[in-house]
Amino acid sequence: MPNLRELDSFGEVAAEDDDVLDYFLKTGAVDQVLSGKILLVLGRKGSGKTALVRHFTEGDNKDHGKPLSLRSYPWTSHQQLVDQGASPSEAYVASWRLLIAIRLASMVCQLGSNTYLDSLKALQTFLKKNFNSIDPESRAILSRGRLDVNGLTVAPQVAGFALGSIIFGDESRKKVLGLELDSLTNSILNDVTTAIAELGISRLYLHFDELDQGLDQVDETKQKMLVGLILAAREISRSKSLRANICPIVYLRTDIWEQIEFSDKNKITQSASVNLQWDEQSLLQLVNTRLQARLGDEASWSNVEDGKKMRGSQSKWSHITSRTLLRPRDVIQFLNEALQVAKIRPDQNLSFCNDDINESREGYSTYLKHELDDEIGPHWKEWTEALQACSRTETITFQKADFMKNYRRTKGPDNPVNAEKALEMLYRFSVIGCEQRSSKGGSKWSFRYNDPNSGWDAFSPRYKVHQGLKEFAKLKEERAAEAK
Ligand SMILES: Nc1ncnc2c1ncn2[C@@H]1O[C@H](COP(=O)(O)OP(=O)(O)OP(=O)(O)O)[C@@H](O)[C@H]1O
Ligand SMILES: [Mg+2]
Repeated sequence: MPNLRELDSFGEVAAEDDDVLDYFLKTGAVDQVLSGKILLVLGRKGSGKTALVRHFTEGDNKDHGKPLSLRSYPWTSHQQLVDQGASPSEAYVASWRLLIAIRLASMVCQLGSNTYLDSLKALQTFLKKNFNSIDPESRAILSRGRLDVNGLTVAPQVAGFALGSIIFGDESRKKVLGLELDSLTNSILNDVTTAIAELGISRLYLHFDELDQGLDQVDETKQKMLVGLILAAREISRSKSLRANICPIVYLRTDIWEQIEFSDKNKITQSASVNLQWDEQSLLQLVNTRLQARLGDEASWSNVEDGKKMRGSQSKWSHITSRTLLRPRDVIQFLNEALQVAKIRPDQNLSFCNDDINESREGYSTYLKHELDDEIGPHWKEWTEALQACSRTETITFQKADFMKNYRRTKGPDNPVNAEKALEMLYRFSVIGCEQRSSKGGSKWSFRYNDPNSGWDAFSPRYKVHQGLKEFAKLKEERAAEAK
């Protein structure tokens, strides 16, 4: 029998620190990305965006370029590169296309490092001249102030004049910046195309992760920049002249995507995006894969727990997952808490019992609150005041009138969100769910994370705080009146 005492942990909660490649679970999203039709991977915090990027880009898979992490990306210097000749939503397409072209140049130079080709030589010269390296860091590419047009086979031209360099801060040339960027991009892509054909490359993927880092406040300019990146990715992937299938893929938090508006958004959401979604079953597979990697092929959830039902004859697994937002990070955190609790017991052969799970809820609940702080905070700094209003009801379910009354007391003067809007925001992030009564007399709780289609109901008879926050918000069950 597998023994939990031999397990150090269920893994780290962020894919950057986790040994995720030892136990990566291949979900449907993997094949969808590989199909080449996807521009955008959407998922809430902790849903597995970085895990996917690591799966694709680590190891010896040559089709996937080094990931472009936009952590500490110099948004402010990129912000200067407005294409004044383009419409507002396309103002940053030209600069992102250039960044993608330079990354592609770097990728083909690395793939062809043992081959001599004029096109590769041209790209190497360009990269070395500007960045001293054929593999410049993404964040360094557009923050240099100046790019020298050097080495490329077809010299970029604007209005018939050859371009010697692009100086980003040059006020007098601001009006033609878009044209200059486009023309440099086209020259780079020309050499990239030739190199791709000669090296026999048929497909290249480029992954952009961690866009949300540094996007604490998605103001209007940042929105335009994000839209620009997605449109630039689409243009490059559609480009017929490139002769290879180029697949730039942007990984983005769902809450940020929901904030952005532009004309083709719906089209892209419907036909070129994948949403990272998990359920009880796939999360169980994720945990089983981890247990097998660490405790041997025989290990699985069912043989590291004692099989006894929790209160309400719920299995331990359902008890845990109903306290998560069905995201891997939540499950891993809960199990790590439970493992620590279990290890305090003296049993040599250790498996989970109900008390381990009960005693980990407190610590888990604090984690969930903090994870939600990271997620909701950028949109609404004072959201805790709304949670405090829920706490004042004392029961996990409440009516709107109670919330309105309590929120008036907890809302501080700097909090711009009124009570109606506050409830809706809590629903949007699945902090609360709505009660839905059916015509047959039954009722159920509908949370956005597990029932995204039912939508916000401002007139629900009752609302319920998510089970995972019960301990943090110091709430009690309302057993007798509880809807099933
Ligand atoms: N397919 C998978 N197989 C195994 N583990 C996974 C998988 N997807 C996610 N995980 C694990 O779940 C946790 C959270 O995933 P990850 O860090 O990738 O989330 P994220 O969406 O990038 O979150 P954030 O928005 O905070 O960056 C990590 O421990 C990661 O290793
Ligand atoms: Mg991540």
